[in-house]
Amino acid sequence: MKKLGIGVLGVGEMGRRHAENLRRLVPEAWVVAVADAAAEHARKVAEELEIENSYGGLEAMLQNKDLQAVLIATPDKFHAEAIGIAARAGKDILCEKPLALNIADARAALEAVSKAHVRLQIGFMRRYDPGYAAAMKRIEAGEIGTPVIFKSVGRDKDEPPLTAYQSNLNGMVFYNNTIHDFDLARWLMQDEVSEVHSYTTVAIRPEVARYGDVVASVVNLQYRNGAIGNVESYVQAVYGYDVRTEVVGSKGSILVGSLRQAPATFLTAQGGVQTLADQFLTRFQDAYLAEVRDFVQSMLNDRPPRVSGQDGLKALTIAVAAEKSYLQKTPVKITAEVGLSA
Ligand SMILES: NC(=O)c1ccc[n+]([C@@H]2O[C@H](COP(=O)([O-])OP(=O)(O)OC[C@H]3O[C@@H](n4cnc5c(N)ncnc54)[C@H](O)[C@@H]3O)[C@@H](O)[C@H]2O)c1
Repeated sequence: MKKLGIGVLGVGEMGRRHAENLRRLVPEAWVVAVADAAAEHARKVAEELEIENSYGGLEAMLQNKDLQAVLIATPDKFHAEAIGIAARAGKDILCEKPLALNIADARAALEAVSKAHVRLQIGFMRRYDPGYAAAMKRIEAGEIGTPVIFKSVGRDKDEPPLTAYQSNLNGMVFYNNTIHDFDLARWLMQDEVSEVHSYTTVAIRPEVARYGDVVASVVNLQYRNGAIGNVESYVQAVYGYDVRTEVVGSKGSILVGSLRQAPATFLTAQGGVQTLADQFLTRFQDAYLAEVRDFVQSMLNDRPPRVSGQDGLKALTIAVAAEKSYLQKTPVKITAEVGLSA
């Protein structure tokens, strides 16, 4: 069997799951190595997953001649630079979202990819979720007519520790969380966002403002072809991990997502209980597996990745506009392909 030699960079919560999926559940992948700035942690993960090699960083891992592709799952801040380095070494890349934290870095990364003639997929795994994928098929088949309204909610369960804000390793909420909804906003509506207007709050945790972040946000969207939308993000919903989306069309509507972890209700004399989804790794477990499987298949069969670098750039552009709108307290237009104007 033809196999894709792949190395995983950054084996924290997300990267470890990717490495495990590739190692155990994607027979066409050969996980040659894992690498992490915490070299001892990389060694442990390699040992647990029975992966032969581990390294303390990307450059060292790239010396391994068996590597054809790199999966990047470091914190957001390092994505663009790692894409450039892996591309210049001639490797195909699957990079976690976001592509970068600003447009200049994103463009530099995409230029490196294009110059090196390698391929880049961005980790918008919701496109691989069975619910979202089924919704897209029906939208493409015209079943709800012309999309008119996009609505999406993304709520994390637990309050992030202040150290997560202090470390400054990941982008603020629009880059780290809402970016998934910005991608869905383009993909499901088959249209581009032309204007955003953001509203944010830190009212229940004012100290977050010190780190340039917010606790909750809503972003209103205007589309080029006249549709409208709204995206809400909330990082401390307490009750569960709650991701839901609705696309309303001229002939009907599609609702994706449910609060329930499993289709089961437990009934006793005290009443009924349903287990709620609590975390992305469980809610999107099928999507993460389908995502890496599709990446491996695309690379082995010389197909362009299904979620491109341009998709990464366009979602990032909406995030940049949303942040600008929040800082300036005005609507922000997204003018040309990736241009912004106040
Ligand atoms: N697609 C999704 O649903 C999803 C979900 C969670 C996280 N993510 C993304 O995945 C990335 C990682 O998130 P996480 O939750 O796993 O974080 P994490 O903090 O759990 O893990 C990050 C790992 O990267 C390592 N690291 C840090 N800097 C490095 C560097 N320069 N080179 C090599 N290794 C480095 C750290 O030691 C750590 O092991 C983030 O970009 C995040 O936005 C995506």
